Parts: sequence; structure tokens; C-alpha cells
Amino acid sequence: MSAQPRPSTLTAAETAEPRAGDIALPLWIIVLLFLLLYWGVVYFDQYSGGFSPEVYMPCRSTAELAMYQPPAGAPEFAGGKTVYENVCGLCHGTDGMGKPGQAPPFVNSEWALGNPNRMIRIPLAGLTGPIQVAGQQYNLAMPAMGAALPDDDLAAVLTYIRQSWGNKASAVTPEQVKAVRAEIGNRTQPWTAEQLNAIQ
Ligand code: HEC
Repeated sequence: MSAQPRPSTLTAAETAEPRAGDIALPLWIIVLLFLLLYWGVVYFDQYSGGFSPEVYMPCRSTAELAMYQPPAGAPEFAGGKTVYENVCGLCHGTDGMGKPGQAPPFVNSEWALGNPNRMIRIPLAGLTGPIQVAGQQYNLAMPAMGAALPDDDLAAVLTYIRQSWGNKASAVTPEQVKAVRAEIGNRTQPWTAEQLNAIQ
């Protein structure tokens, strides 16, 4: 059986001895490889995030990643709004306009926009007696409101007041609150406008 001659229908390519370099790669495999390579390059381009170690899936770039992060400084500020609405807003109004007979406004208030060293003292120990706010005279009493609040909550709520309803004043930092707290010790006596005006 094994000695039988090969059938004469075989082509020259089929009867020749195999040699290196002879095998023709089918065109579709070459095309497929190029398509895969192309897809790989596009994939890399889209998902590598510029090869930044800070970018991770599903974000494709630092810009996209940043879109999902809370804006810088915002958590403090957002926390400030909550504290404001739960504490200060009850008297000063959620719109910062104050309430007749209860509390003066923060909008355009020289106390809310002015020297933070004076403003920080007000919630810490309270305020009493005649006071001029945004061109109007008040003579009420505010109990100590912020003594129980941690430094960063108080800083956040004061910053919220200073930067809301059109107010544009500098932020108050927890460090500033801490420093004022240390200066006044455990004072519980409410301030008067006169005493506050003497503070630099
Ligand atoms: C129980 C009501 C009440 C609450 C709550 C209250 N205040 Fe006041 N606040 C007052 C009154 C009343 C005055 C004015 C006191 C006076 O006439 O001497 C005042 C005055 C002020 C002033 C100076 C005047 C102005 O309007 O800018 C600041 C600043 C202030 N409060 C901050 C705060 C902050 C911050 C909070 C929350 C942590 C707060 N207050 C919560 C009643 C309140």
C-alpha cells in the first residue's frame, strides 16, 4: 500500500517539498490582524487617560475623572448650607434677609462681610444690645449659637454666609475659628457691637 505512486492529479505546489517561507498567509488574516492592531491603538488612545496613573476606569481622561469629583472646596461649603439652614437660618432667614423682631439680615451686613475676627466671635458667645446692620438699627439679643459646633462646621457656615445671596467676602477657615476660640477662652458673656468694633 505505502509503495503506491502518488495520483497524478496533484499540482506542483502540492508535490514539492515544504520549504521555509513558502506558506502564503491568507489575506483575511492579515486584514484581521491590521484591524485588531487598529482597534488596539484606538482603544489605548481612548482608555489610557494619557497614561496618567490618576485616571481609572470608567473615566478616560483626567478631565472626565474631574467631572465626577465634588468641586474643590465644595464639601465645606455644602456642609455650611446645611448648618445654616438648621441653625442660623431659623432667625436670620434661609434667604439671609433676617426676620423682623428676630434677627438682622446678612445680605449687605458689614458684620457678615467684614473682619472675620469679629464675625467669628458672634456665634461663639452671642451678641446683645444696639447694633447697626446694613443701615438699620437693631437692639435684640442673640444667644451663643456656635459654641457647640466644631471648628470646621462653624467655618463652613460662616463661609456660606459670606458667599451667598450675592455676598462676596473671603472664606473663613477652621484655623481662624480655632484661633478665635483660643483667644476668647470659655467666655459666655454675649458681645456688644462696641466691644466687637474694638477687635482688630
Ligand atoms: C435665636 C435667633 C438667632 C439665631 C438662631 C442666630 N442668630 Fe445671629 N443674630 C440674632 C440676633 C437677634 C442678632 C442681633 C443682636 C443684637 O441686636 O445685638 C444677630 C446678629 C448676628 C450677626 C451680626 C449682624 C448681622 O446680621 O450680620 C451675625 C454675624 C450673626 N448673628 C451670626 C449668626 C450665625 C453664624 C448664626 C448660626 C450659627 C446665628 N447668627 C444664629 C439672632 C440669631
